[in-house]
Amino acid sequence: MGKEIWKAGNFVYPVPAVLVSCQDREGKKNLFTAAWTGTVCTNPPMAYISVRPERYSYRMIRETGAFVINLTTEAMARAVDFCGVKSGRDLDKWKETGLTAGTASVVEAPVVLESPVNVECAVTEVLELGSHHMFLALVKAIQVEDGLMDEKGRFCFEQAKPLAYSHGAYCGLTEAIGSFGYSIRKNSTKAKKKQKKSLRKRG
Ligand SMILES: Cc1cc2nc3c(=O)[nH]c(=O)nc-3n(C[C@H](O)[C@H](O)[C@H](O)COP(=O)(O)O)c2cc1C
Repeated sequence: MGKEIWKAGNFVYPVPAVLVSCQDREGKKNLFTAAWTGTVCTNPPMAYISVRPERYSYRMIRETGAFVINLTTEAMARAVDFCGVKSGRDLDKWKETGLTAGTASVVEAPVVLESPVNVECAVTEVLELGSHHMFLALVKAIQVEDGLMDEKGRFCFEQAKPLAYSHGAYCGLTEAIGSFGYSIRKNSTKAKKKQKKSLRKRG
């Protein structure tokens, strides 16, 4: 099995394709798609988004220091793409997509009600990296859809069919392979055998 060497670029995939919602000081609301996003610290809980300064939303986030990361689902894929190719400068993306703006519990930004998870963020620092400026933020609150809780109080996120983005394509996640720490659990023999078999096939 050989490897090609490519020039430097961005290739950490898959990543989530999220909807970032925000508003300006006058309360005008907007949303856009972001794939350059993630968690940067467990305690305190911190997240980031990287945004090009030319985005309509950029000024809003700088003004208020607030945004919401709304996780998306397979059912939302079309709206996610639309919000990533159209600007709030030219049209009302809430109206065009049928997505609904709800109220955040802490920060000065709307949430997307159709998203199963809304992560409310308050900006702590802006790193002007280059093409993108990175908004580092503290997570102030998380809203989760109560219909996805099971009887044991577990949040069954997989049932929402989360949406990922990988090298230009929107993808669903297939069935779960294991849960956190499964590789060292005693009853993992079956899973181990399955993994070895699939690695042998690839090799
Ligand atoms: C899948 C996908 C991922 C994107 N990720 C980002 C991102 O991480 N940062 C960014 O600045 N723009 C990103 N964009 C582009 C913006 O979403 C797009 O320019 C949008 O129109 C900006 O909206 P606005 O002008 O209303 O703020 C992405 C677009 C798509 C389709």
